[in-house]
Amino acid sequence: MLAYSGGLDTSVLIKDLQEKYDAQVITVTVDVGQGEDLIGAEEKAKKLGVLKHFSIDAKDEFAKDYIFPAIKANALYEGKYPISTSLSRPLIAKKMVEIGKQEGATGLAHGCTGRGNDQVRFDITLSSLSPEMKVLAPIRDWSMTREEEMDYAKANGIPISINATKYSIDASVWGRAIECGLLEDASVEPPADAYEWTVAPENAPDNPEYITITFEVGVPVAVNGKAMQPLELIEEVNKIAGRNGVGRIDHIEDRIIGLKSREVYECPAALVILEAHKDLEKMVMTRHENLFKQSIDDQWVFLAYAGLWVDPLKSDLDAFINQSQENVNGEVKLKLYKGSMQVVGRSSPNSLYDKNLANYNIKTGFDQSYAKGFIELWGMQTKMCNALKASKEPKTSKTTK
Ligand code: ARG
Repeated sequence: MLAYSGGLDTSVLIKDLQEKYDAQVITVTVDVGQGEDLIGAEEKAKKLGVLKHFSIDAKDEFAKDYIFPAIKANALYEGKYPISTSLSRPLIAKKMVEIGKQEGATGLAHGCTGRGNDQVRFDITLSSLSPEMKVLAPIRDWSMTREEEMDYAKANGIPISINATKYSIDASVWGRAIECGLLEDASVEPPADAYEWTVAPENAPDNPEYITITFEVGVPVAVNGKAMQPLELIEEVNKIAGRNGVGRIDHIEDRIIGLKSREVYECPAALVILEAHKDLEKMVMTRHENLFKQSIDDQWVFLAYAGLWVDPLKSDLDAFINQSQENVNGEVKLKLYKGSMQVVGRSSPNSLYDKNLANYNIKTGFDQSYAKGFIELWGMQTKMCNALKASKEPKTSKTTK
């Protein structure tokens, strides 16, 4: 069974598995919102002589069971990347195993190279979920250059699309990753044609657009007051943010295997929803919860990025994170304007912010006289240490160090 995208690598892989391994190949294409031509992929697979092909629409499951947990975990790898590619890998692997078992497959193959993160995610998830099936990553063992691969494709009647050569694209409904070509020079601004989901900020409308997102128990349920299903909601926010030039990311990323890479993404909905979610958490959770959860979130996104989605630690953290979301209900309003995004208002029935308590002018239940004693105790050790240090310092200013 081969995870098939319809692209050059996995098409060549079908032939390779048929010839080198004498295998009957079953292909599966999992739709996580990559916006690619699934019917085309199926036709291509059949033309290449596969035994069977499966096209699986997993978009709803992806939104509900993969993206929503990431929202609750404020998942931004290295503070920047909403792990749009990373999240889809364990789901694709899960589908491969399900169908593989059903079809009696003996091996599970994927088209990852030996340089990226995806090989780590596929290998670990596939072999954890199905220890009895062999996991293969034949491209990792090839020494074919891109040109040689193209020649092989031509010789074997594998169709090649021309736009496959400019950038390497990987997309899911949570975002689009753009790699290779001109982008490999980290000092150069990405060319305009790298982007498809976002307009250039300078071409965005001259008036700001406001968007309000409603959360229930930590997940978004409505946009501008209109209730929506998870997938529909994410697609809608992608559109709204994208037309305002919001969602572009360009950063240097540490891959699992140690390489640094220059990564360019467009993740309009992800950036907006994550910003709103985090803001709401700060309003409804205690400072102790907020501070502690930060470290849990960091650990969660690291596991999800690093291919350890099925590690028990991830479910342990999920248990904590789910519990923490009980009060994360309310609305967050953001202002989108020419590539910028700012939270400009929020409200919640569980708000711990009380404008009367914080107010400087009004006599309220907050008794200021407690502050003096609190500060006395709060700073006690700090003052003691400084006093001790001063007492040990030489009396004269002339020292021979
Ligand atoms: N660096 C990102 C990640 O590891 C995006 C990788 C894009 N993948 C790809 N096969 N083009 O999640």
